[in-house]
Amino acid sequence: MTADDQKRISGQAAAELVEAGMVVGLGTGSTAAHFVKALAARGLDIRGVPTSENTANLARELGIPLVGLDDVKAIDLTVDGADEIGPGLSLIKGGGAALLREKLVWEASRRCVVIADAAKVVKTLGRFPLPIEVVRFGHPHTGRRLADIAAEFELPPPRLRTAERGIVITDGGNVIYDLASGEIADPAALAGALKSVTGVVDHGLFLDLADEALIGTDAGVVKRVP
Ligand code: 5RP
Repeated sequence: MTADDQKRISGQAAAELVEAGMVVGLGTGSTAAHFVKALAARGLDIRGVPTSENTANLARELGIPLVGLDDVKAIDLTVDGADEIGPGLSLIKGGGAALLREKLVWEASRRCVVIADAAKVVKTLGRFPLPIEVVRFGHPHTGRRLADIAAEFELPPPRLRTAERGIVITDGGNVIYDLASGEIADPAALAGALKSVTGVVDHGLFLDLADEALIGTDAGVVKRVP
């Protein structure tokens, strides 16, 4: 089974959790896209809250009715991918630069299910560079402050994310710094330190947010709880 097959079966399993009438948070990325497609195929009467413009476009193409986070009091269930799944379902997210909207949607949700291929599961978070979303105004200064924080944790300086077309700008108009941390000994301490920097909007450490993981493996979908 390829990694994409594993992503697909995890997305399909998550789509089975959705019931008619629910408000559903729609994650971002290739695994979340499998979920959105499987959900659309079920044809249920639901409303989706997208976590990115990309996901909103996909959901619209598939005919899923959308509402904004501002328009709902709560979300019944959010399903989203992850870049890493560590102990206690601690996560690194933000590889797709959608971490801020994702975290806002997750935090407004009664239940959060993370879906992934088996390679995303790690013993200790930190193999995947940790994304940090930073306000664009004065971001080189914020980047230097982040480098100071990283040094306190004996980590290398975070690097501004760029792509072929230049600096990556998020849906919220911010930039991303990626911290190639290696193993993160104390994710909660690092999360707190990063959030303390003015100009940091949020980071990709999702701690104590996932209620359940559905991992696609060659032997089928494996459910994990924190
Ligand atoms: C986007 C994310 C994605 O969920 C994460 O990058 C996983 O992506 P994929 O399912 O394509 O591997 O956090 O910001």
